[in-house]
Amino acid sequence: MNTKIEAKTAFEWDVLEGFSKYPRSIPSKYFYDEKGNRLFQKIMELPEYYLTRSEFEILVNQKKEIIQSWGLSNEPFNLAELGAGDGHKTKLLLEELLKQKFEFTYYPIDISQHILDVLEASCRENFPQIRISPKATDYFEALEYLSSHDTHLTVTLFLGSNIGNFHFDEAVAFMKQYASVSKSGDLMLLGVDLKKDPQVILPAYNDAKGVTAEFNLNLLDRMNRELGADFKRENWSHYPIYDPQTGEAASYLLSLAEQEVYIDSLDLCISFEKYECIHTEISKKYSIKEIMRLAEGAGLTVLEIFRDDEQYFASIILEVK
Ligand code: AVI
Repeated sequence: MNTKIEAKTAFEWDVLEGFSKYPRSIPSKYFYDEKGNRLFQKIMELPEYYLTRSEFEILVNQKKEIIQSWGLSNEPFNLAELGAGDGHKTKLLLEELLKQKFEFTYYPIDISQHILDVLEASCRENFPQIRISPKATDYFEALEYLSSHDTHLTVTLFLGSNIGNFHFDEAVAFMKQYASVSKSGDLMLLGVDLKKDPQVILPAYNDAKGVTAEFNLNLLDRMNRELGADFKRENWSHYPIYDPQTGEAASYLLSLAEQEVYIDSLDLCISFEKYECIHTEISKKYSIKEIMRLAEGAGLTVLEIFRDDEQYFASIILEVK
C-alpha cells in the first residue's frame, strides 16, 4: 500500500489504519452519524434487542434500591453520565432523585453537542427544577474536571452495556482510567449485558426486519458520503456471529464479490477478495465472575448487583477505592 497517503480527519485516519492491516476493521464509533443514531434508536425498540428493555426493567423495578445503595447523605452530589444517549432510562433515576428531594447537578457527557442540546431541552421540559450542566467533551476530561473543581461525591452512569463495545482488556483499561480521574468513594452505575443462551443473543444483532444490517451497512454509505468512497451496497452483507466462550458478539461487513473500492479523500484503491470481511463491532457479554475480574483489574469494589427477572442484564454499583 502507498505509504505517502495523507489522512486529514480522524475518520480518514482510522479508515486508512483499519484497511491497511489484516483482518480489516473500522472502529464502531463511526456507526453513529445522524442516520446511524436514528437506526440505533430503532434497534432499541426491536423485539429481538432485549438489552434496552432488560435494563429499563431493572431501573423501573429497583430504582429505589439502586439509589439507596449509593448511600447518599444530605450533601449535594454530582450525577455524571457517560454517553448521554436519549436519556430514556436516566429520566427514571432523575425523577426518583427529585422525588426523594436529593440535591444534585446532572452532568451528561457526550462528544456530540447536538445530542446534548436535545437531551438538555427535554430535561428542562420534563424537570424544570433540575440543575443540568452538559459537557461536550471527552469522558475522562469531564470527570477529571469534576474531581479537581469539586469536593462533592460523583455518581457516574455508564448504561446500555456500552462497556461491551470493548474487548475485556480494553474494558479494564477504560475502568482503570475512570478510577484514576475519580475521587476515592465515587460511584459508578454500570449497565452490563450478561452471558445467556446464544439463541437469544445472536438475533439481537440479526433482527428479522434488517435494521441492524442497515445500521452496519450505513458505514459504507458514510464512507461514500464523507470520504468520497465508491462502495456498492449490493456487494456487501451484514454478518454477525456470537462466540459463547469469549461472550463476544461480533459484526462484519462481508464482501460478496472480488472488488476494488476507491476512496477519493485518501486517493486510495483497496482490493477486497470475495468473502473477505471488515470487522465493525464487538458487543461483549459478561458472566458475574468476569464482572468481578473487571472490577478487580481496575481497582474498583463491587458494592451491589441488580438484575432483571430473566437475568439477562446487570446493573452494577462500583466504588472507587
Ligand atoms: C451501543 N452498543 C452497546 C450497542 C451494542 O449492543 O453493542 C450497539 C449495537 N450494535 C448493534 N446493535 C446495537
